[in-house]
Amino acid sequence: MEELKRKAAAQALEEVRSGMILGLGTGSTVAHFLDLLGRRLADGELTDIVGVPTSLRTEEAAGRAGIRLGTLTRYPELDLAVDGADEVSPTLDLIKGMGGALLREKMVAQASRRFVVIADSGKAVARLGTVSPLPVEVVPWEWECHLPFLRGQGCSPVLRSAPDGAPYRTDNGNFVLDCRFPEGIADVEALQGLLESRAGVVETGCFLGMADAAVLAASDGITVLGRPA
Ligand code: A5P
Repeated sequence: MEELKRKAAAQALEEVRSGMILGLGTGSTVAHFLDLLGRRLADGELTDIVGVPTSLRTEEAAGRAGIRLGTLTRYPELDLAVDGADEVSPTLDLIKGMGGALLREKMVAQASRRFVVIADSGKAVARLGTVSPLPVEVVPWEWECHLPFLRGQGCSPVLRSAPDGAPYRTDNGNFVLDCRFPEGIADVEALQGLLESRAGVVETGCFLGMADAAVLAASDGITVLGRPA
């Protein structure tokens, strides 16, 4: 599995050119991308790269890899964002956020002229929500008030826990409700519309119409999906 993730990361790295401002996603697949990028910088094949990290975890890993870091405030327009995903639909809609970085990931992806997803082919699904729950970031205040609403949308929401049993906190200090849909999400646009208009919901892991390409690595080769015209 790690080999497949690394292959997908290596393929995406082929899009990186010296001087680019990059969005750096979060997760185990992106960890390979950071490592490979760091190596190219160290051997001088790439120069003048700035990376905008989507999480504190990525900030630390990118720093260790010798990648110069920037912020969205300093670089509001990025050349390319590279990130993992928890599910990838045939039309390149995504579920993201099992690593908890969904809000910053979406901000960085939105700021990027091109957004490339890297994953092993096991992340490809026919319908979103069939394998992964949908992470929904909410403010901690009165978080339980969202539960009946979410159940009304056909899912079973569970408050994500940290290893010590306390509620998991995102880098933004919020909670995450992991929403499992027994048969997947029937109408993902409608659900996203409902959730984003609800006060207290900060962001959802639905990334709709955002990815330009998905690099999916399988044991028999790499498939690159492009967004349908
Ligand atoms: C982080 O919040 C997520 O969106 C990750 O991008 C996603 O969970 C993929 O992670 P892996 O590469 O570890 O599977």
